[in-house]
Amino acid sequence: MAEAVLGHPAAAPGLSVPFTGPDAAHRGIGYEGVAVAYKGTTVLADFTLAVRPGEIMALIGPSGSGKTTALRVTAGFVRPIRGRVHIGGRDVTDLPPYARSIGMVVQNYALFPHMPAYENVAFGLRARRALEATIREQVAACLRMVGMESFAKRYPRELSGGQQQRVAIARALAIRPQVLLLDEPLSALDAQIRLTMLEELSRLHRSLPTLTVIYVTHDQTEALTLADRIGIMRDGRLVALGDCQGLYRRPPNRFAAEFLGRANLLPVTVEAEDAASGLARVRFGAVSLMVRRNPEVTAGQAALLCIRPHDLRLDPPGPSANSLAASVSEVRWKGDLHDVGFEIDEHRLRLTAAPLRAPPEAGALVNFYFAPEDATLIPEERRG
Ligand SMILES: Nc1ncnc2c1ncn2[C@@H]1O[C@H](COP(=O)(O)OP(=O)(O)OP(=O)(O)O)[C@@H](O)[C@H]1O
Ligand SMILES: [Mg+2]
Repeated sequence: MAEAVLGHPAAAPGLSVPFTGPDAAHRGIGYEGVAVAYKGTTVLADFTLAVRPGEIMALIGPSGSGKTTALRVTAGFVRPIRGRVHIGGRDVTDLPPYARSIGMVVQNYALFPHMPAYENVAFGLRARRALEATIREQVAACLRMVGMESFAKRYPRELSGGQQQRVAIARALAIRPQVLLLDEPLSALDAQIRLTMLEELSRLHRSLPTLTVIYVTHDQTEALTLADRIGIMRDGRLVALGDCQGLYRRPPNRFAAEFLGRANLLPVTVEAEDAASGLARVRFGAVSLMVRRNPEVTAGQAALLCIRPHDLRLDPPGPSANSLAASVSEVRWKGDLHDVGFEIDEHRLRLTAAPLRAPPEAGALVNFYFAPEDATLIPEERRG
């Protein structure tokens, strides 16, 4: 319902639905057919998206897919050649960056090296000619929010990467923006600090629930951990959009299936559908399988069957289950899980499971199965 009010459905098929409606214009961030070109080359095309107020929207996608460009057009650092951008109900397309109520942490989060943390955080307030008392109060509050109040006098070179990152976030928050744009904020940090920072960002957002956040990353774990919804970008276009679980469990296309998590994909033909049970029968080679139905793929059509590695099991419980015979190509123990590779015909599949007591051996012929509700159909697209 909320989706409908914002003029944007949760799943990919309606990606081109325009950002319209009186309510939409009052909240969050709205992009309506936004396009950006550099020297005649379009790098963001028909970007239409409604980010809800207070939501964390992750934008993910390969390098060069237009993620940073989407943030820059939001902040006003680049002008679209087409389309409109709304923030909090205002059309900001023609407004300069400073008039947009946006805090941004750029990809390399450059702090001003010649200023201590305090002055870095105060910068935006000074530029807006805030009163000294306001600056003191706001800077202290923002440094406290990111746990850096005792580092106010330190210069960036005297801070660790994670600490610099916290200051950069405090700097972005100091002007009390409606919108916080984070461009790969954790990419320069090592894995351990990244996890801590993810938790901190989560906590920070809980303390600022009305702050709308766009979080750009190419790390799917960050997106899944932090975001309410995820948009997947490819070649300057938004190719998938949904809440984390929905997008992961029911990816709308092959690209989304492979970009968000690992996916086993098998070519199948739909034989029959049953709207009542929500299941469909599909044929893979000589085998019939029951899977979750997708209304976009009807009987007789080709599709891809998508099963996540952790949804495959060894040793079917009975002869009627979705069972496939395959030869094991490799078995890897990774401490907290087993990773088993199979081959069926020329297709490679992967199963992950909690450590197995008796893992199969490479070369063995095994049966594996999956529950119908854990298998999704993806419309077959022309490749190229
Ligand atoms: N100032 C510019 N002039 C010309 N081309 C640009 C400029 N900025 C970006 N581009 C191009 O626009 C495309 C999208 O770039 P963008 O920075 O948005 O990608 P990205 O998704 O953020 O990638 P990454 O994950 O590597 O940061 C790329 O092909 C890039 O080369
Ligand atoms: Mg980028």
